[in-house]
Amino acid sequence: MQDQPLLEVSGLRVAFPTARGYVEAVRGVDFSLRKGEIMSLVGESGSGKSITMRAVMGLLPPAALARGSVKLLGRELMGIEEKEIRRLRGSRMSMIFQDPLTALNPVLTVGDQLTEAIRIHQPRISPKEARERAIELFRSVAIPYPEKRMDQYPHEFSGGMRQRVVIAIAIANRPDLIIADEPTTALDVTVQAQVLELLSELCRVNNTGLVLITHDLGVVAGMAEKVSVMYAGSIVERSTVDDLFEHPRHPYTRGLLGSLPQMTGDIGRLSDIGGAPPTAATIPAGCAFNPRCDYAVDRCRTETPALETYGPTHVACHLAHTLPEYAEQRKTA
Ligand SMILES: Nc1ncnc2c1ncn2[C@@H]1O[C@H](COP(=O)(O)OP(=O)(O)OP(=O)(O)O)[C@@H](O)[C@H]1O
Ligand code: SF4
Ligand SMILES: [Mg+2]
Repeated sequence: MQDQPLLEVSGLRVAFPTARGYVEAVRGVDFSLRKGEIMSLVGESGSGKSITMRAVMGLLPPAALARGSVKLLGRELMGIEEKEIRRLRGSRMSMIFQDPLTALNPVLTVGDQLTEAIRIHQPRISPKEARERAIELFRSVAIPYPEKRMDQYPHEFSGGMRQRVVIAIAIANRPDLIIADEPTTALDVTVQAQVLELLSELCRVNNTGLVLITHDLGVVAGMAEKVSVMYAGSIVERSTVDDLFEHPRHPYTRGLLGSLPQMTGDIGRLSDIGGAPPTAATIPAGCAFNPRCDYAVDRCRTETPALETYGPTHVACHLAHTLPEYAEQRKTA
């Protein structure tokens, strides 16, 4: 089907056991992604970004309890057998993590790891064909001298080159969906830009959907079409990148964009907001952001706001309909 979303996440909740019973780290997340689309997921540390996307991949810690719906090209993934989700991982969807060293096996050559990734999902391919395909993949991620580099071990590669190997493994079977969880944070700044450019180019060429978790607003602005902002386990605002940067509605989003210089040059990282975010066990009643929000009213302490639609933006704030104008007036008063 032409218009079928690539990924549809609805009502996703994830809870962890604690001494005081289960506490929810992801509290009802909804979003969708089309083929070839790039969405950024942003929010402070502990807001639930990684857990949300691990739930999509079926990669949660065993103690975690997940509910809700995750559909990949219309197919429900929640509750399917482990064997089946393992088959989909690496073939239809793959995940790239922050630290390429933990993703690679130190005692196998990078070539063996890449050919293994190819052969596990394409068992009929011959070793020679798998090696040729691996060399071609190394070439596509701009690893110089790919034939020679195939026989080296991860420690012989720089951080940036290692992350290219991980990207080559992630795209080896031309997945429909890639989830990249802060894929370049461990790399130095110039290498970060090259690796991200490569990843977005590969997604464009292959029409792969990409969810990119990042703390870097410059990356969001430069790469993504859509953005979702998470706070305390929920998406509090989601929109197109253009609209979110131009008209952020949620006070939390406005706070994150607070240090945003004009939309030129280095946009920078998420801004610090006064106070600390709650942990999963200490999320307050009402709007989870209320203890830190300058605009909070009584209702915010008792009633949880639902996501409502304003043009291309969906925002969960009781005052979202008045806030941009109100904030503008306060600024000029
Ligand atoms: N294995 C676990 N056991 C119990 N609770 C966990 C576990 N992993 C995560 N959590 C809880 O889930 C919350 C969300 O964690 P998550 O790793 O998704 O945050 P994040 O938004 O990715 O943060 P960061 O930006 O630091 O990577 C954490 O604050 C923590 O309370
Ligand atoms: S609902 Fe209330 S506390 Fe929450 S962000 Fe909106 S104004 Fe602030
Ligand atoms: Mg994380």
